[in-house]
Amino acid sequence: MTNRIFLSPPHQNGRELPLIQEVLDSNYLAPVGPMLDRLEAEMCRVTGIPHCLAVTSGTAALHLALRHLCDHRSRQDPRPPIVIAASLSFVASVAPAIHLGCEVWFCDAEAESWTLDPIQLSHALSEAKAENREVLCVLPTDLYGQACDLAAIHGLCDPAGIPVLCDSAEALGVKREGPDPWAQIFSFNGNKIITSSGGGILASHDEKLIAHARKLASQARENFVHYEHREIGYNFRMSNLLAAVAVAQLETLDDRVSKRRQIFAGYKKRLADVEGISFMPEANWNTCTHWLSVIRIDPEIFGADREKIRLALEAENIESRPVWKPLHQQPALRQLRMFGGRVSDQLFNEGLCLPSGSQLTENDQDRICEVICK
Ligand SMILES: Cc1ncc(COP(=O)(O)O)c(C=O)c1O
Repeated sequence: MTNRIFLSPPHQNGRELPLIQEVLDSNYLAPVGPMLDRLEAEMCRVTGIPHCLAVTSGTAALHLALRHLCDHRSRQDPRPPIVIAASLSFVASVAPAIHLGCEVWFCDAEAESWTLDPIQLSHALSEAKAENREVLCVLPTDLYGQACDLAAIHGLCDPAGIPVLCDSAEALGVKREGPDPWAQIFSFNGNKIITSSGGGILASHDEKLIAHARKLASQARENFVHYEHREIGYNFRMSNLLAAVAVAQLETLDDRVSKRRQIFAGYKKRLADVEGISFMPEANWNTCTHWLSVIRIDPEIFGADREKIRLALEAENIESRPVWKPLHQQPALRQLRMFGGRVSDQLFNEGLCLPSGSQLTENDQDRICEVICK
């Protein structure tokens, strides 16, 4: 059997070990320390966002931002506040909102970018207004390295004073136009473009948010010598040791993004003339990282559906994955309100994520495309 080709495995650059050694030498084997400070400063530089907090995961970063909003609700409404989120996303986008007792409403994706459709968002906001409901935030996702349309989303949210919390777990390194959201999260999970094996970042221009989140992430300990707690927090701080891995990996972020884009172009070149196969579009407001290269298969024209292709790849020891199953279709979330749905349902039925790791070779891509076309 040939070597397995994974979907998006970690890619070490050799700087990890020296920086881990630096942490071991410092003896800061704790969720505080100079490497964490360095990571946060580095993420401020990379993102251009002035305040960054390193935590245990992207999910934890979302949880902290939402908790901050829940703690600062402007209305005293016995009904739960609403979080309007993209349906075409990973469940982690909305799990924290549900844990915090919010009501999640979903919006479909738009065909041009596969990210949250501003038209469906405008319907959701109108419905919330008509029902006099409080919208805690809008939570779009930057999907597979593609930036959502923040200009359009802000155009709808700003007049109503609704904050935008952008789930950029999959999109570190994307170059986008448009305003920065109120807050943004990134993931360093093992399958991401760079990794710390597990970890995340909450980034914001809102200094008060980051200060509060920093405190909440450390069991909400007050600034006293003894242990004093005026609110209940979490143990969400990233380890200083793992921060070394992220700092090391960030040094080669630009290379990794170029490589992922090159891989996407490589699939396009090889599959361009195959009838029934198309590609995730690149929206004109961003330079997508193509964290994952995603194709779309029209079974009528191609003669096989995406599951048949996935199984053929698996038989050759090649990992691929269907596009996210829309969250409004998940058994645990099906009862929640949904605006539109046709686009994300079709993308789930027809979309396939191909191996996209930055160590993928030309030969690997030849092998993958041969199986697809067989
Ligand atoms: C869209 C999206 N949101 C949130 C997350 C959660 O990030 P983490 O795994 O770091 O908690 C992920 C991926 O893992 C993701 O793909």
